[in-house]
Amino acid sequence: MREQLLAAEQIQAIHWRDDALYLLDQRLLPQQQVWLAFDSAAGVARAIAEMIVRGAPAIGIAAAYAVVLAARQRRDQALPAQLAGLEADCRLLAAARPTAVNLSWALNCMRERWLRLRPGEDLLQVLEAEARGIHASDREANLTMAQYGMEQIRRHQASRQCLLTHCNAGALATGGFGTALGVIRAAHLAGLVERVYADETRPWLQGARLTAWELAEDGVPVYLNADVAAAHLMKSGEITWVIVGADRIAANGDVANKIGTYQLAINAMHHGLRFMVVAPSSTIDMSLAHGDDIPIEERDGRELLELGGQRVAAEVPAVNPVFDVTPADLIDVIVTEKGVVERPTEEKMAQLMSRKRLH
Ligand code: MRU
Repeated sequence: MREQLLAAEQIQAIHWRDDALYLLDQRLLPQQQVWLAFDSAAGVARAIAEMIVRGAPAIGIAAAYAVVLAARQRRDQALPAQLAGLEADCRLLAAARPTAVNLSWALNCMRERWLRLRPGEDLLQVLEAEARGIHASDREANLTMAQYGMEQIRRHQASRQCLLTHCNAGALATGGFGTALGVIRAAHLAGLVERVYADETRPWLQGARLTAWELAEDGVPVYLNADVAAAHLMKSGEITWVIVGADRIAANGDVANKIGTYQLAINAMHHGLRFMVVAPSSTIDMSLAHGDDIPIEERDGRELLELGGQRVAAEVPAVNPVFDVTPADLIDVIVTEKGVVERPTEEKMAQLMSRKRLH
C-alpha cells in the first residue's frame, strides 16, 4: 500500500528550493495555480495570517522554513544577536494564527535544535536540516496514518462506503498527501470508497475549492454539498464515516478543527455513524487539559458579509469563529502516526504520547 500511496501523490503546496520558500497561493485555487516566493520570516508570517498557506501541519512546516530564512537574513550578525533575533521572529510567526498547535510545535523544534548547536556546527545548515526533517516526517506520518485509518474503515465494513469530510485536510494542508484525505485516498485505492461528500466549508470554501479539487484530480468520486446539507445526507443512511483533520487535540482527546466539525460530530452520533479524526502527534497539545482551553481564532467578519469583495449581507455585524471544539466523547477514533486511539480518554491519550517521538 505504501508504494501505491506514494505513486498517487500529485499535489504539493510547499517547496524549499534555492534557499527560498515557495508557497502555492491557496486563496486562488482551483482557478489559478500561482506560486509565491518568500525570503523573510515576516513575509511567511503574513502568508500564514492571510491563508496563502493554511492547514495545521502546513503552517508548521512553512514556519520551520521561515526560521531558516530568518537565520539567513541575520547570518552576518554575532551568534548571540542572531539567536535573539530568531526568538523575535519565532514570536512573530507564532502569533500569525492561534489555534493550530503545529505552528508553535514546529517553532519549538527549531528552537530546541539551535539550543543544541555544537561548536563548529553551522547554524544555517543545522536549521535547514531540521526544517527539511519536519517536512519529511510529516509526509511519513501521512503515509502511516493513511494505512491505519483505511484499516479502521475496512474493519468496520469491507464493501464500498460513502464518506463525508469537512474543510481541507489534504495535500494542500500538509507535507504529504493529507491526514483525513490521506485516509480517504488510501481507502479509495483499497476499493472501499463509493463516493465522498465534501462539505463546502463556509466561509472560506476549503471544501469547495480545495478538497473537491484535490479528490477530483486523484479520480476519487467526490460530490460537493452545502454544509447545511450534512445532517440530511446522514439521515439517508448511506454515509458510514465522517473523517476530518484537527488543528489541536487536548490531553483528554477534545479536538479543535474547522468551524462546523462539532455539529457534524453531534449529527454523526445522532445518526449512528462513525467519526474519525486524523492528525499527526504534532497536533496533540498535552499541556492543555481540555478543549475549552484551546484558543479559537476569530477572523474578519467581512469573510461572511462579503462575496468576492461585494457586500451581500444586511448592514449587521458578523461573528466569525473559524474553529470549534468537538468533545472527546463524540469521537470514535483518533488516528495518529503513533497509533490509533478508540473512544479517546485522558489515559489513552497519555499512553499514545508516551510512544516514540515523531522525528
Ligand atoms: O483555516 P484552515 O483552512 O487553516 O483550517 C484547516 C483545518 O481546519 C484542517 O482541518 C486542519 O488544519 C487539519 S489539516 C491536515
